[in-house]
Amino acid sequence: MLSAILATGLTVLLTSTCLAHRIPFNAPTDSAQYEFEWPIKDVAIIGAGVSGLLAYRSLSEKDHFKNIRIFERDEKPGGNWHYTDEIARSIPIEIGETSDWWKADYVPEIPEKLPFCRTYKVESNGTRKEDLEKKRIQHRQPKPIWKTLRANTPAPQQQVPGFTWPPGVEWASHHSKVQRYLRSFASWLGINNGDDNPDVSYNTRVELVSKRLDKSRKQIGWSLLLRKFVENEDGSYREAYWEENFDAVVVAAGRFNIPHIPAIPGLVEWQKRFPEQIIHSRQYRFGSTTKGKNVIVVGASASATGISLDINAFASTSYLSIREDSNDPRAPVRRQTHLNQVPPNTTIIGEIKRFRSIPAGEDISKGEIELLNGTIITGIDQLVFGTGQEQPIVTDGTHVRSLYLDVFYIDQPTLAFQGQNVGIQTFSYGKYTSEAIARVWSGQAHLPHKQALWRHFWNTVEERGGLKKGFQWLQNQAEARYLRHFVSWLNSEAVTTGAKLLDLPPDVSEQMDLWMKARAAGVTVDPNGRNDFWGDSLGINQEIEWKKAVLDDW
Ligand SMILES: Cc1cc2nc3c(=O)[nH]c(=O)nc-3n(C[C@H](O)[C@H](O)[C@H](O)COP(=O)(O)OP(=O)(O)OC[C@H]3O[C@@H](n4cnc5c(N)ncnc54)[C@H](O)[C@@H]3O)c2cc1C
Ligand SMILES: NC(=O)c1ccc[n+]([C@@H]2O[C@H](COP(=O)([O-])OP(=O)(O)OC[C@H]3O[C@@H](n4cnc5c(N)ncnc54)[C@H](OP(=O)(O)O)[C@@H]3O)[C@@H](O)[C@H]2O)c1
Repeated sequence: MLSAILATGLTVLLTSTCLAHRIPFNAPTDSAQYEFEWPIKDVAIIGAGVSGLLAYRSLSEKDHFKNIRIFERDEKPGGNWHYTDEIARSIPIEIGETSDWWKADYVPEIPEKLPFCRTYKVESNGTRKEDLEKKRIQHRQPKPIWKTLRANTPAPQQQVPGFTWPPGVEWASHHSKVQRYLRSFASWLGINNGDDNPDVSYNTRVELVSKRLDKSRKQIGWSLLLRKFVENEDGSYREAYWEENFDAVVVAAGRFNIPHIPAIPGLVEWQKRFPEQIIHSRQYRFGSTTKGKNVIVVGASASATGISLDINAFASTSYLSIREDSNDPRAPVRRQTHLNQVPPNTTIIGEIKRFRSIPAGEDISKGEIELLNGTIITGIDQLVFGTGQEQPIVTDGTHVRSLYLDVFYIDQPTLAFQGQNVGIQTFSYGKYTSEAIARVWSGQAHLPHKQALWRHFWNTVEERGGLKKGFQWLQNQAEARYLRHFVSWLNSEAVTTGAKLLDLPPDVSEQMDLWMKARAAGVTVDPNGRNDFWGDSLGINQEIEWKKAVLDDW
């Protein structure tokens, strides 16, 4: 049995017939089609971020499905873009490392008998409001964005096809605007909270997805184990568990659920003693919390560099620790873009080798942090790990396994994934993956035979250099190639099925060019040359008008 973790602990139970390398390569002709084993009428979607909303739109536009249900653990749609001051709890640093990857962020506690319902009355039997609030917050899982965060994708790119931004939005939109935009999209679909639509269930976390079997143990669908945790109007809290059955499931649970903190010797001991002072970027909210402090931010990508910019006006001393050798194929491109944003009064330091033991009774600032290059840093009050997230689903922590086109779970394609690629424009790309899902499940398009799916998968593995971190990273050229594939595949089938023809997304390369130049132009180049990675080499650092153009309304 392969037990796979979804999102923050949600588990998919899959009988392991997916050992692809054992499948013979005498594949049938590619014209042979995959035949679904049961009709697909009732569909569940996990998550109401942009990926889940896109899936709902595509599925509900097909005149085929009987029941489309969307389950969202948060109280509102918008996913990652639903900012709150609430903070995700600290995870023990061991989690996410080595063989513990499967623990994810929490382990669901599933009652023996279902359905199950319990009401917690505050201050009765010693139940404290504070503890119940912690449970509620952990259930909805605060999202990993901070108070001042803006989109690092320009609005024309970060746009749902067919649902345009209102005129006047600035390209680098504040997260609150992206959230309002997504809420408007949910309203347009009739599934915002408050729409009273039985298709959507907020505050509802999917704990477990398991195969539904008949008496002969043949799979006939999927069963979802659900948990709701809400505060009632009278101040009590209600927890309920129940099951619902579906023919197919779209997992749109997001990619940023399990924080990664590297296993640096001594860090576990430091975190146990100083949990407030050692946090992951998903727990970071306000720059003012670093006022007067000496801070190390770790990482060289968007979170770490964004946070070092955010604390700049507050922290007394600000270091950014970056490693020299990355095991991530995305690192060179990513660093170019992000290190340009680092303010000049942030000192870039090397990778941390170890945290030396701090004598009992001393505070964190007495601790010594040893870098790989032998430098010792002391006097640090706060560490923020902007060191990314683990891939949470059907995985060894680095990527999602055994998917055709990074969407359909090959062993049982009634399970499909939205939004799993990295380096794509999630808002527009998601339209095509959700159309593929809805059309395949409604019979408007067809998958190749299973052996052809596996053959395609292993060719993809070879093309992408093996199963490893960054496996689902597409980059611009690959994204364009995949989009052409989706459009030509779905349109060629539409000729016979009568489905609507799809267009490629509009070409926004000119805007992207403008955007990238503006980002580079906004950089204050360090006189020591520390931050001038590429802006100057392109001769664009002085072209401030680019920046102005992009920050203007459009
Ligand atoms: C700090 C940060 C900044 C970012 N900035 C940008 C940016 O500027 N531009 C850009 O294009 N992208 C950005 N991204 C990427 C961002 O993830 C995408 O923009 C987008 O939010 C992905 O949408 P999604 O629906 O796939 O996932 P999410 O937005 O993460 O939504 C997933 C939803 O699933 C729900 N869920 C998860 N597990 C369960 C469960 N078990 N049961 C029920 N519900 C569940 C979650 O609560 C969530 O609402 C950023 C990401 C981060 C972390
Ligand atoms: N809108 C915004 O402003 C914004 C802000 C934050 C995040 N985001 C988005 O959110 C997503 C996640 O971004 P992220 O920055 O959280 O994660 P990320 O892109 O995965 O980057 C993780 C960083 O951690 C570093 N790292 C990992 N292990 C390390 C170690 N042992 N020592 C030092 N550094 C280590 C990596 O270094 P290497 O470079 O060496 O591999 C990398 O720089 C991205 O899509 C990003 O665009 C957007």
